[in-house]
Amino acid sequence: MNKDELKKRAAEKAVEYIESGMVVGLGTGSTTKFAIEKIGDLINRGKLKNITAIPTSIASEKLARELNIPLTDFFRETKIDITIDGADEVDRNLNLIKGGGGALLREKIVAQATEREIIIVDETKISVQLGEKWAVPIEVIKFAAGLESEYLKSIGGKPVLREVNGKPFVTDEGNYILDTNFGILKNPELLAEMLNERAGIVEHGLFIGLAAKVIVAKPDGIVELE
Ligand code: 5RP
Repeated sequence: MNKDELKKRAAEKAVEYIESGMVVGLGTGSTTKFAIEKIGDLINRGKLKNITAIPTSIASEKLARELNIPLTDFFRETKIDITIDGADEVDRNLNLIKGGGGALLREKIVAQATEREIIIVDETKISVQLGEKWAVPIEVIKFAAGLESEYLKSIGGKPVLREVNGKPFVTDEGNYILDTNFGILKNPELLAEMLNERAGIVEHGLFIGLAAKVIVAKPDGIVELE
């Protein structure tokens, strides 16, 4: 079974938790894409009714519009019933590193407005401790990028400005990302607090205590972690 099949399995399992009438958060990335497609399919076949959705990125918004998924926003809704999103790394406490797709700011805003955040991954994303596989994406305002890079070095990180085709990657909110390797994170909560305190850092990809459920697709079946 290839990776896309695993991603699709996890995504379709997560969609089973969505019921008619819900406000749904749509995550970002190649795994969540399968969930958005499934939600669109169920809405268009009349199996899910009165769904409204809030996407976490311009890319997910575009896909949702193509699939005729009704969209809403935080002027009309302030509570989301279920969000389905991906992750780059998941530890045994269901803490996450997210932001591989650069949508971490909107993803965290949506997650904190969500009653039940369901994370969908294939088994390669599971670690004992965060930082085993992935650097922490840190979104900074452009003005402060040089300064924040020095700050991140001063607290033990190795920041690298994310680039696409030789140019800095710009997030949907117009910021830069410093992918910062801190090695294995012995205390991700403390690091998250330090990053939260720092002016110039808009948001970071450490999602602490936000996931209610992680659905892991393995070749021999699905595992649900709560
Ligand atoms: C985007 C994210 C994604 O959810 C994360 O990068 C996982 O993506 P994929 O499903 O493509 O592996 O956090 O900002």
